[in-house]
Formats: sequence, structure tokens, C-alpha cells
Amino acid sequence: MPPRQPVVLIADALSPATVAALGDGFDVRHCDGTDRAVLLAAVADADALMVRSDTRVDAEVLAAAPRLRVVARAGTGLDTIDVRAATAAGVMVVTAPTANLVSAAELTVGLLLAAARHIPQAHQALREGEWERSRFTGTELAGKTVGVLGLGRVGVLVAHRLAAFGMQVIAHDPYVSVGRAAQLGVRMVDLDTLLTTADVITVHLPRTPETRGLVGAEELRRVKPSVLLVNASRGGIVDEVALHAALKEGRVAAAGVDVFADEPCPDSPLLDLDTVVATPHLGASTHEAQEKAGLAVARSVVQALAGELVPDA
Ligand code: MLT
Repeated sequence: MPPRQPVVLIADALSPATVAALGDGFDVRHCDGTDRAVLLAAVADADALMVRSDTRVDAEVLAAAPRLRVVARAGTGLDTIDVRAATAAGVMVVTAPTANLVSAAELTVGLLLAAARHIPQAHQALREGEWERSRFTGTELAGKTVGVLGLGRVGVLVAHRLAAFGMQVIAHDPYVSVGRAAQLGVRMVDLDTLLTTADVITVHLPRTPETRGLVGAEELRRVKPSVLLVNASRGGIVDEVALHAALKEGRVAAAGVDVFADEPCPDSPLLDLDTVVATPHLGASTHEAQEKAGLAVARSVVQALAGELVPDA
């Protein structure tokens, strides 16, 4: 009998480059990781599990995978992986922390422009035979202030892009020094100043116990009624019920939303509002980002299964 090849289970749709980069020597299998029963059965033989953000890798999945040595997340966030349970089970968790940054920043700018200029709504009206112009009068970004909530790697890319639009950039991030921000041309402010002075608020935070619900009913009561709010980072940081109420009551002018607290959620009440431009968690969904993420995690999986040191991707 030929020797057993390590099983690499791919549970979400990953770029074709991922499988190619794994090379020979693995038994590569695919399953639908969003189907719990299918995932639990498939993971029983897996030495490596590769996912995007649709498959939740929690303690139940890890317990069903006695051979598992590495979980690879083809993306940045770890909120869909129980890292503590993985560590306790001796399973390495690897990510592709830089692959998606530019794509996430570009989608943020896209959502902002779409919300500021009512692009999807005007497109839809035109398709329905209406040639409406004054109804879709928008907001110019130049000269306005953007408040970046979370000046990490994506937040910095967004700040640079919006500065190029002629916007003043302020930011709130307790982990970034004033000096570092000044080098980036960004003025650091406290959360209240950001909420009360920004014309645009864009969120770039991981979802952690500290950030969950950070922009809630109270915070949305302090913003300018003309504010445009964009979140293409993680759902749950902006309270969706509070945002819905603020938009309905005209306390927030418009929102661009790519992420939701519970995904998938095609029935989110936010989708009923004309002032919302929404996409189904597409921040990382470009050919370039997916290829980079797939290659990075494939490399890490090969190294992990060979017992080698896995450097930061
Ligand atoms: C990320 O964390 O990088 C993205 O959410 C990945 C994805 O879209 O699957």
C-alpha cells in the first residue's frame, strides 16, 4: 500500500492558486464548511484545514479532528476561529494578514463614494426607466473631515486614499501614538471628538470584546446628522439596530455596510433603507487578494505539515 498522504481539507472556496501552491504530496479534499454535519465528518481525517470566513472553526470542529495539525485562514480576521481551543489542542493557526489589505481599503472607498453619490440607487432608478438627477444630488468629499476608527493597516491605507481626495483625516486608536499618526498626516483625537466632528466615519477594527458594539445608540446620537458611516471591517462593531434607527430618524445621512454581526444575512433590515449601500462581505473578494491569501496560507500549510517553522506570511 502506498504511504498515506496528509489530508488537506479545503472547506471554503479558495483561489485555484491555493491548490496549485500546495503541490504534490497531499490528498486535497473539498467540502462545504457551512454544512456542520458535512464539515464534522470531513474533518475527521484532516491533517490541515483551510478556510476563508464562511466556515466557523470552533471547539466542536477541533474535537472532531484528531489528526489536525494546522488551521489556515485565507484572510486576516481570526474571529471565526477558536484560537484558544486550537492552541489547547496543539493545532497551529495561520493566516494571511497582509493579502487583503488593499482590497479592503479600496472597497471602503467604493462604498463611501457609492453612499455619498447614491450610485447604486441612481443606477437602479435608471434601469427602471427613470432619468432622475436632482433626487440623487450627493455630497462632495473634498474639504470634509474623515474620522478613521482604527488606524491599523487598512485604516492607514484608507487614510492615504481619502487624503488624496482632499479630505482632512482624523483618527481614533488607543494603540497608535500621536507621533506615528503625525508621520502619516493624521491627527489623533478621542472618540467623542471623532464622533462629533467627522463628516465621514469609517471603521477599521477587528471584532474583539473591546470593540463589539463600540458604535452603538449613544455614539450615534453624537454624530452630525449629515454623517456618512462606512464599515467594511467586521460586523458587530457598529450596532445594526442602533444604526437602522439613526438612519430612519435622519440622525445619520447614509451608510456603506459590507459586514454584519451575523452572516450571511440577506434579510437584514438595513437593506430596506434607501440610505444604505450594502455588499455581502466583499472586502477581500478580489482576484488579487484571493490569490495572495491562497498562496500565503498554502505555503504555511506545507511548512506546518513538514514540521518546519512557519514565519509570518
Ligand atoms: C478577512 O478576514 O481577511 C476577510 O474577512 C476574509 C474573507 O473575506 O473571507
